[in-house]
Amino acid sequence: MPIELFNKDGHLCLMFTDLCREGGEAVQSNQFLLIDNKTGVIVDPGGNLAYGELYLGMTQHFAPHQLSAIIASHADPDIIASLDRWMTATATAKVYISRIWERFVPHFCKSGKTTGRIVGIPDPGMRIPLGRGHLLALPAHFLHSEGNFQFYDPVSRILFSGDLGASLGHGLDAQTPVTSLAEHLPYMEGFHRRYMVANKVLRHWAQMVRKLPIDMIVPQHGAPMKGPAVQEFIDWVETLSCGIDLMTDRDYAIPG
Ligand SMILES: [Fe+2]
Ligand SMILES: [Fe+2]
Repeated sequence: MPIELFNKDGHLCLMFTDLCREGGEAVQSNQFLLIDNKTGVIVDPGGNLAYGELYLGMTQHFAPHQLSAIIASHADPDIIASLDRWMTATATAKVYISRIWERFVPHFCKSGKTTGRIVGIPDPGMRIPLGRGHLLALPAHFLHSEGNFQFYDPVSRILFSGDLGASLGHGLDAQTPVTSLAEHLPYMEGFHRRYMVANKVLRHWAQMVRKLPIDMIVPQHGAPMKGPAVQEFIDWVETLSCGIDLMTDRDYAIPG
């Protein structure tokens, strides 16, 4: 069953959390269906593990073949490896992904399937139409992928943050939003230190998102953050050393 993150005046944000659970080989991940005034898009639909159940679960809320867009924060397997099947299922939906991945994602598909259907998001971001309004594709480059976007919904004031804000690990409840960051940090810290590229980009990101009214940050793995946890998370990552900040000669030694 999906979680209803927002539902008001024909605008609906649904999160699927349990299509590939923590504990198996594959990392738990979230997929999103956003609907406005009978238009629907999916955000980070995931890989082949999620496809079948996501398709079925979606049919109760929206006819998958009528989706107008497949939106990807970056090009990782847990984000978009199911692209071939979504291209078949949706016939005319456009794929929105960073311009720097535009010519790489066709490798997920059979030859010719993506022709004329990929919209490369330019580095500064763009507006992506959704029903009566739009989503904002916000630059999140190197958080963690070189061409990375997050998606801000001005109606629900939800920031779909991709891998930034992810929480992982045993005992984590991905379905229940956290309101306080402190007890949630053990599920986040190791991931952010290794998968985020550098503190420099986190500082740029924090500066950008502080200008937006955000009610919820919803990552692609683990639990959403709301209430005080939103600002606490922004403050936390702004000072976090990660990725290349932590690399030394020891990390580049030839294995024995
Ligand atoms: Fe990723
Ligand atoms: Fe991911």
